[in-house]
Amino acid sequence: MANVRPRTHVLFGLSLFAIILSGCAAQMGADGKMVLKLPSEVVSDQWAAKGYVGPQACASCHEQTYNYFRDHGHPKKIRPAAEAREWGIPLPEGYTWDDISYVIGGATRKSRYIDQKGFIITKTGPKKDQPGKNQYNIATGRWVNYEAGKELKYTCGRCHTSAYVQEGNQDGRPGMVGTWAFPGITCEECHGPGKAHVAGPTKANIKVDRNDAACGKCHIRGAKEKIPAGGGFIMHHEQYNELLASPHAGKVSCVTCHDPHKRAAISQKMGCDTCHAQQAADFKGSRHEKSLVKCTQCHMPAAGKSAESFGKYVGDIKTHIFKISLGPNDQMFTPDGKFATGKLTADFACLSCHASRDKAWATAQAKGIHTRGR
Ligand code: HEC
Ligand code: HEC
Ligand code: HEC
Ligand code: HEC
Ligand code: HEC
Ligand code: HEC
Ligand code: HEC
Ligand code: HEC
Repeated sequence: MANVRPRTHVLFGLSLFAIILSGCAAQMGADGKMVLKLPSEVVSDQWAAKGYVGPQACASCHEQTYNYFRDHGHPKKIRPAAEAREWGIPLPEGYTWDDISYVIGGATRKSRYIDQKGFIITKTGPKKDQPGKNQYNIATGRWVNYEAGKELKYTCGRCHTSAYVQEGNQDGRPGMVGTWAFPGITCEECHGPGKAHVAGPTKANIKVDRNDAACGKCHIRGAKEKIPAGGGFIMHHEQYNELLASPHAGKVSCVTCHDPHKRAAISQKMGCDTCHAQQAADFKGSRHEKSLVKCTQCHMPAAGKSAESFGKYVGDIKTHIFKISLGPNDQMFTPDGKFATGKLTADFACLSCHASRDKAWATAQAKGIHTRGR
């Protein structure tokens, strides 16, 4: 059976170690191997009644998928403090773990924090009364201000949790808007309630949605026809908006390129060269190829920003617009800077490396780059 694979420890090693340290409950899996149980993966009676079983119930048969999944940012999107503290995430000044109910993120670029009442922490300092310094940026170790000083409910559940419903307050915490079966994006957020499938697995009793819109439910910002921007960068979680503005729209989907269970860096099912053999052949032997520059470094530069930027043209989220536009009037952003135009211009494509040059140089050099000189 193709989707039931033997155990591998390759990626799982570190996480496993952290989980063991956290002293979480363990039980024997169906195959007699130890399965470690995170409290947040245990289904409550309320959600069990709706047919949810939790990711552990999938692990016994889909072990490798589960191991990759647990290493992914998806299930870690929001974590109870008791689990997050085991991952070495630092706290904002003035707070101890007793003050924290959940940590938001902290797996990839940044973390934010929720207090015991369910509000996002926006005030810090020794007396917890100073606005700001409430978001931790992983790449730089910097604390920055997110909505400094505001009273901020956690309204983010529809994109950060599994089986979100808008009614109620999770755990009875007044600041948490809505309730959910599990914190983070777990198997059943994408595949639907798994009870019937676990009892008698067939393809017919588990959902698989390969449409871009399924990923676009969360990897979107605002209306899908526009690409919101700010501060000279595309904003984060807009991969769907961007894909729709790209030449891949309707032709190449998220799951054509990504295995949805694997972290971005290891999720590619195929390279660009699989479909663009001509450009890949032209690229062979070029100066850039010899310098180990990858297709994605020009075609998917970090034109988006989640936590940090590292220069005028270097954010920390790779764009999904793909096509580089070299028209004399092409601009990355609308004049007011509030939206990306859907054109990826040569400044973003080239100047992350050629920092001493400018857009005019890059545009001129970029024209016919794959075939020039051949
Ligand atoms: C008792 C073993 C078992 C458990 C537990 C189990 N599965 Fe499966 N799963 C299978 C088998 C066997 C198949 C292949 C069915 C077939 O080919 O007819 C499968 C297939 C699938 C597929 C592919 C469906 C398709 O259309 O190709 C998905 C998705 C899936 N399982 C998800 C889950 C999720 C999510 C859970 C936990 C809620 C889970 N499975 C729990 C055994 C299991
Ligand atoms: C972000 C959404 C998402 C999450 C979370 C997710 N899946 Fe999937 N899964 C998909 C999609 C989409 C496909 C179809 C992928 C394709 O056809 O390329 C899929 C395919 C599968 C398949 C069949 C193909 C394969 O890869 O073997 C299995 C089995 C499966 N998922 C199990 C799981 C289990 C178990 C979990 C949790 C440990 C899980 N999935 C979490 C979206 C998700
Ligand atoms: C319910 C909301 C939701 C859905 C549906 C969803 N995602 Fe995500 N995705 C997120 C969030 C939130 C993150 C950020 C996780 C983190 O890094 O903390 C994320 C992160 C990712 C990442 C980068 C994570 C890493 O660890 O490198 C990839 C790649 C990704 N998603 C692909 C997909 C694909 C493909 C689909 C559709 C099959 C999908 N997602 C569906 C919410 C979602
Ligand atoms: C429309 C869906 C959506 C909403 C609403 C949303 N997010 Fe996210 N968020 C995402 C996705 C998708 C990602 C990862 C992809 C990306 O950043 O490009 C993400 C990433 C993050 C990260 C970075 C995680 C990491 O490990 O680096 C944090 C922190 C975060 N969101 C906080 C919030 C907060 C706080 C709210 C509510 C005020 C919120 N988000 C609302 C979809 C959403
Ligand atoms: C599964 C096949 C597939 C994969 C993988 C793929 N593409 Fe494409 N790409 C297409 C198709 C189909 C089109 C639209 C038809 C066309 O114009 O060639 C396209 C169009 C493009 C275009 C615009 C072409 C033009 O003539 O204007 C660029 C640029 C591009 N892709 C870059 C990439 C990059 C970079 C990658 C790797 C990250 C990639 N593609 C991966 C199939 C693919
Ligand atoms: C043509 C192939 C292709 C398509 C289509 C595609 N991606 Fe990607 N995506 C990539 C590549 C390549 C990366 C960079 C992986 C790496 O870090 O090496 C990436 C990175 C990401 C990241 C992490 C961003 C970052 O800066 O690390 C997220 C999140 C993501 N993709 C989500 C999606 C979603 C959601 C869709 C559909 C709306 C999608 N992708 C469609 C190829 C694709
Ligand atoms: C990931 C980094 C990177 C990106 C992105 C990049 N380059 Fe380069 N480029 C290099 C390296 C490395 C060399 C090799 C220098 C050498 O051969 O000594 C190079 C060499 C060149 C040269 C010849 C040397 C020179 O400076 O005159 C040109 C022209 C050039 N690149 C143009 C571009 C254009 C146009 C783009 C955008 C479409 C681009 N590069 C994007 C890294 C990059
Ligand atoms: C140094 C930056 C750079 C790298 C690396 C790069 N490209 Fe390109 N690519 C460009 C530029 C710039 C254009 C637009 C050229 C034009 O419009 O004249 C382009 C155009 C394309 C096109 C559109 C069709 C065409 O020929 O104009 C495709 C498809 C493409 N590249 C695929 C790839 C693939 C696949 C790779 C990796 C094997 C790759 N590119 C590597 C800069 C790069």
